[in-house]
Amino acid sequence: MGIIDQIDLNNTPKHIAIIMDGNGRWAQQQGEERLFGHNIGVESVREALKAAQEMNVQYLTLYAFSTENWERPQEEVDGLMDLLVHTISSEVEELDQSNVVISTIGHTAGLPQGCQEELAAAYEQTKTNTGVNLILALNYSAQWEIVEAAKKIAIDVSNGTLDLDDISKETISDNLTTKGIPDPELLIRTSGEHRVSNFLLWQIAYSELHFTEVLWPDFKKENLYTAVLDYQSRERRFGMVSAQLEK
Ligand code: FPP
Repeated sequence: MGIIDQIDLNNTPKHIAIIMDGNGRWAQQQGEERLFGHNIGVESVREALKAAQEMNVQYLTLYAFSTENWERPQEEVDGLMDLLVHTISSEVEELDQSNVVISTIGHTAGLPQGCQEELAAAYEQTKTNTGVNLILALNYSAQWEIVEAAKKIAIDVSNGTLDLDDISKETISDNLTTKGIPDPELLIRTSGEHRVSNFLLWQIAYSELHFTEVLWPDFKKENLYTAVLDYQSRERRFGMVSAQLEK
């Protein structure tokens, strides 16, 4: 019996978020430049997407470039942007055929023009699809989006369109770049690091966290099945006690 046969397909997470980590270390282990790891990492994106499709996952959010990643050597930043543009343009047709919606979260206006255009075109082409939503977090940081949300809410309060007492959790959620997207039930980080690195801090309040030693370029469909099996073994209490959940 394969791992996928052990999964309850009626109880898979609607939304899985992944911090794809370890490309650089993987490349170094192969005696290659860091960019080689990112290139091979694209194959792991395909694997994760295929596994998500098989498990009826509706949203797959991938942390592809953080606002802090601009601090990396220029050659790596340029290489990552080229890889992104090239990958989207070469894959969009097939993704469209398999009913995937490609969208982004993050400060995409701060990305190179060519990259913005490629992403906008991919969204235009796929936005009416009804399959998996592949969400790329690009130039994203959770603290950035929370600050932006605070500014938008402050403007609404100061111009009188929002009453201070009406600010709720929903007000915050509705002003984040993930507006309309359900919170992830499962967050995965590869490469053995046990951090969330400024990713979806608001949205993961009750997410199950799964950490794996696997470096991202080695990530295969089976690794996503394993993470979902781990998720299905957890009891999600949302602050309550077990007995309340049984009612
Ligand atoms: C983290 O590994 C990985 C990234 C910052 C980039 C991830 C991007 C890809 C896999 C390409 C994505 C492409 C598409 C189309 C979504 P790291 O470089 O931090 O690894 P290290 O911790 O070993 O140095």
